[in-house]
Amino acid sequence: MKYSMIGTWKMAFNGVIIGENILKNGGNVKDAIENAITYIEDNPNFNSVGYGSLPNIEGELELDAAFMDGNDLSFGAICSVKNIKNPIKVAHLLSNSKRNCYLSSRGAEKFARLNKFEFKNMLNDIAIDRWNNEIQKNFDPDNLEAYDGHDTVCMVALDSNKNMGVGVSTSGLFMKQSGRVGDSPVIGSGFYCDSKIGGAAATGVGEDIMKGCLSISIINNMKMGQDVQSACENALKDHVNRLKNPNYSPGTMSVIALDKNGNFGVATNRDEFPFIVTCENFSTKILVCRNNNLSMEIFEPDEEWLNNYDYD
Ligand code: GLY
Repeated sequence: MKYSMIGTWKMAFNGVIIGENILKNGGNVKDAIENAITYIEDNPNFNSVGYGSLPNIEGELELDAAFMDGNDLSFGAICSVKNIKNPIKVAHLLSNSKRNCYLSSRGAEKFARLNKFEFKNMLNDIAIDRWNNEIQKNFDPDNLEAYDGHDTVCMVALDSNKNMGVGVSTSGLFMKQSGRVGDSPVIGSGFYCDSKIGGAAATGVGEDIMKGCLSISIINNMKMGQDVQSACENALKDHVNRLKNPNYSPGTMSVIALDKNGNFGVATNRDEFPFIVTCENFSTKILVCRNNNLSMEIFEPDEEWLNNYDYD
């Protein structure tokens, strides 16, 4: 494959189209990922990424993002940041640093200010209303689930020069504790990319994803010779089975991956997980991964499926 791109959830659709236009015109993977995720961060219609996303228990938005360059394994990440308009851009710039490439809260905001990134009040009325409704409920802070099953936008891409990269961005779990950080900005858990093997990323309940370092597990499975789909299924299946016990039922987790040739893989422990793909053989389209007892079926959704899907 000359180029290829995959993103998590239906919300990735327009972002992947932006990436596709860059990649098919010979653009590079970094621009494709940054522009795709920036579009989603800026869009207030998506509940769990960027502007107007999911507040923490104190009614504040604390955002996490990461970017990894598969050529030299450099990565940048920020966590618990407030009011940075595009966390993915800051994570991308940090990936150029040899040291201090993973910054949290005030330090990350200071770096963003110094580098003249845009700040804005990321809370909008929809996010405030959502928080007001939730805070009145008797919810269990120790058993939070990914919001309607979806949270992080993840993009993995390959360009025509065989460069690979991964980017992720999220507001994390709805009603999380202040300062809580999930898998998304954590290398090996929320994302990993090695252009000599492939790239992978995860979405879902960060605490459970981190216990299995799911993204690097997928890369390691490919390194051992598994095809990309088997690598995703086996990593997820092994981890979910390991976590299951009579007193614990693992949270929702979904993964996407590309191998170094641009073939894609996907797996989920939800009933269904929509994702977006494009490559030189077809333009951007939505597909769904259906979980049958941790064995995956991938299908193209029809009008009825799309009309019944209410989430991002
Ligand atoms: N997967 C995102 C989070 O748990 O924060």
